[in-house]
Amino acid sequence: MADTLPSFGELIATLSSSAKPSVAEMMAAAKREGRVLLQPRGGVGAFDAMLGLLTDIEAVGEADILPITVDSHTRLGRFDVAGKCLEHFPGRLNGFPVISHGYQALRQLNDLCKHPLQIRHGSPDGRRLMAESVAGGITSFEGGPIGYNLPYCADVSLEDSFASWAEVDELAGILTQQGHVVEREFFGSLTAVAVQPSIALACTFVEAICAAQKGVKAISIAIPQGGNMVQDIAALEAIPHLARRYLPADCSVYAVLHQFMGVFPEDRPRADALIFAGALAGHLGGAQKIVCKTHQEARGIPDTAAILDSLALSRAAVLGRTVSLPIDRAPIDDERSAILREAHELLDPIAGAPDVAQAAIAAFHAGRLDIPFPANEAARGDIFPLRDLNGALRFGSTGQLPFSDATIRRNTELLKSVPRQSHSTLVREAILYFSSTGADQ
Ligand code: 5AD
Repeated sequence: MADTLPSFGELIATLSSSAKPSVAEMMAAAKREGRVLLQPRGGVGAFDAMLGLLTDIEAVGEADILPITVDSHTRLGRFDVAGKCLEHFPGRLNGFPVISHGYQALRQLNDLCKHPLQIRHGSPDGRRLMAESVAGGITSFEGGPIGYNLPYCADVSLEDSFASWAEVDELAGILTQQGHVVEREFFGSLTAVAVQPSIALACTFVEAICAAQKGVKAISIAIPQGGNMVQDIAALEAIPHLARRYLPADCSVYAVLHQFMGVFPEDRPRADALIFAGALAGHLGGAQKIVCKTHQEARGIPDTAAILDSLALSRAAVLGRTVSLPIDRAPIDDERSAILREAHELLDPIAGAPDVAQAAIAAFHAGRLDIPFPANEAARGDIFPLRDLNGALRFGSTGQLPFSDATIRRNTELLKSVPRQSHSTLVREAILYFSSTGADQ
């Protein structure tokens, strides 16, 4: 590992010396001005390659917020393996090994880029990465105990994840108190497999409540594009309502849309159409940021040209001039009310508990909070997704979720006209809905 971490005093001095806006400031400005920021994903092993990628993303792609996507070894705490790969085969790493490069390298990257950086990863335990990141002058950090555990890990308990992420939030809270607002973003895409919006929102808001209790004041709630425009707009619009209900008034809360996270079309026209639709949903739903996919998604990690193309395509959608249709508010309002009712039914019993983390863990064990297809048995996975005739995501089974009769009735009604087939066929169709080689082409 490259360096030992700096003292707290030196860390504060470094953060104070930064002249550029922080991610928290950019998000606040976007919200004030009704603009949506664009951010791609991107990370490569070697320092020079990473700098080149960021320079292109910033200068050519005009991304508003820059990513450092971390490699899988580092995400899983295998810092020694990441270090060896960096030494021998940097080109094989699937992201930037932050710990192996060390915080001085992050400072260099940060100093050489005009726009602020965010660390994006997927670690069930983000403590070391967070410490290295803030030491590197980066005050925006993705991840939380649910979104970065249940979809990814079979062998880390939720108890351990909540405990380690509480330390991450505590550090964010301490820095915030010192005047350096650390933005924390929560990953509602979960397993990325057709996640119903109220599930994404319930999970991210549990994480957000825990973060706010540790003094975090800038929170981004990131949810995935599901693919039905009305539902995607409604889900984004639900975020400020939930923020008012569950988070302190002095907490700034931002809505983020991940362009489609599920099985992507293999062919470029369809992939581009989905990317464009996602950006449009983000724009119309009032998101402050869109995290962009590329047309190479079905094949793996994108190259720089694909990242730049997807930024240009998304930019065209959010300019708001390319598509201007009269919008029928009624179905959006109806869907938003339904999403809010579901989210309240999931969150109210947890948010009021004396220990929110413990209440959430107990709810997962009992299935009162659940996600589709979890990797970790801390969640039951009793709920599975189906799509209604319009492609909106519904519940094929509500499992043990504490839903009211009204919620269950609406869900059943919306699925009534879906042609009868086996559940496994319908689930497959829900998942492969946009795939060029999918179930129903
Ligand atoms: N560069 C760009 N995108 C990446 N992703 C993962 N690692 C990288 C990287 N190093 C993307 C995947 C997927 C999402 C979860 O993150 O392609 O779209």
